[in-house]
Amino acid sequence: MASKLAFPPITDLPIPTKIFPTLPQRIPLISLHVLCSSSGHTFFGHKSPSGSSRKVASSSSSPSRLSSASSAPDAVVEEEILHSPTPDSTQDSQNDPSSKLVLVVGGSGGVGQLVVASLLSRNIKARLILRDPEKATSLFGKQDEEKLQVVKGDTRNPLDLKPSMFEGVTHVICCTGTTAFPSRRWDGDNTPERVDWEGVRNLVSALPPSAKRIILVSSIGVTKFNELPWSIMNLFGVLKYKKMGEDFVRNCGLPFTIIRAGRLTDGPYTSYDLNTLLKATAGERRAVLLGQGDKLVGEVSRLVVAEACIQALDIDLTEGQIYEINSIKGDGPGSDREKWRELFKLAHTQNLQAHS
Ligand SMILES: NC(=O)c1ccc[n+]([C@@H]2O[C@H](COP(=O)([O-])OP(=O)(O)OC[C@H]3O[C@@H](n4cnc5c(N)ncnc54)[C@H](OP(=O)(O)O)[C@@H]3O)[C@@H](O)[C@H]2O)c1
Repeated sequence: MASKLAFPPITDLPIPTKIFPTLPQRIPLISLHVLCSSSGHTFFGHKSPSGSSRKVASSSSSPSRLSSASSAPDAVVEEEILHSPTPDSTQDSQNDPSSKLVLVVGGSGGVGQLVVASLLSRNIKARLILRDPEKATSLFGKQDEEKLQVVKGDTRNPLDLKPSMFEGVTHVICCTGTTAFPSRRWDGDNTPERVDWEGVRNLVSALPPSAKRIILVSSIGVTKFNELPWSIMNLFGVLKYKKMGEDFVRNCGLPFTIIRAGRLTDGPYTSYDLNTLLKATAGERRAVLLGQGDKLVGEVSRLVVAEACIQALDIDLTEGQIYEINSIKGDGPGSDREKWRELFKLAHTQNLQAHS
């Protein structure tokens, strides 16, 4: 049975808490339905914060494979309109866990370890690319190689990303990252430019054309890195480089979904083990706010981000889409596929309504 954990404060967050207002606002709980808000955000179990208008966006969800490598954006990027390719779809093509081999890159990180634990608990085979494969044993214990494979690799080094690493891989979840500001995690030049841009580019370039979906964890604010308060967080380029990584994914020709997280809460659980990971909960922050258009400002539990990544693998209408995600107090979709589908679908609908 899942239990609530007390977590130590996270001290090396890429997004400083002080530069953002505490959003979304807290408002009374209402019944647990998927709700639409005029602000263009979809959420479960909680009324959406109001007052967020949305800008126009444009769409390009079917780019050709590696047709255009991204160049450094030097101005604030206008967000794209995201049209749902199948807004009424209720059927998904891939639901058999045994048919998947999910490559997780960044599986030793806060979101990544929750992704891996969740895949293991669902009997979905996973392969990890880790700079230090030993970390897998301390985090996930000794696992059957049929269920969990670990290979050594650094995404900054294209020569590390050998074709054999990708054999049999059906899906990819990339949740690599480093700190936004200089820290020990930059040691050895592991900077946002190297990880969020070059690393993502190298990884995506190495993926086989057979990959059914690549999920990239990115950040809210990437389209506004020249605007306050985002420009503060972008002092060392993290948002700019994340946007470049996003653009490369969008243009790679593979089916993709991008999940832009708000400030991350809960974990990382680096001093814990698999049993603890599997018991971790998002505490009271289980209600999920999903939006499109880079308008959401707020926090999200790492557990919720991990779940969104795993759900998106199987929900066809998330293909070619970019979402922003927050979590707030209240009950949420948990691991219910239908509820997640509704959330994603309503995010599309609201985005289209906001621009019609
Ligand atoms: N923290 C926030 O508030 C926030 C907000 C929005 C978005 N995000 C983004 O959300 C994602 C997940 O965040 P998180 O806090 O869960 O991540 P995290 O704990 O910082 O983990 C980062 C992961 O990336 C791996 N990694 C770093 N450099 C690598 C490299 N050169 N090659 C291969 N792997 C490398 C790390 O592996 P090692 O174990 O080898 O270091 C680790 O597994 C990141 O992209 C982050 O930028 C974070």
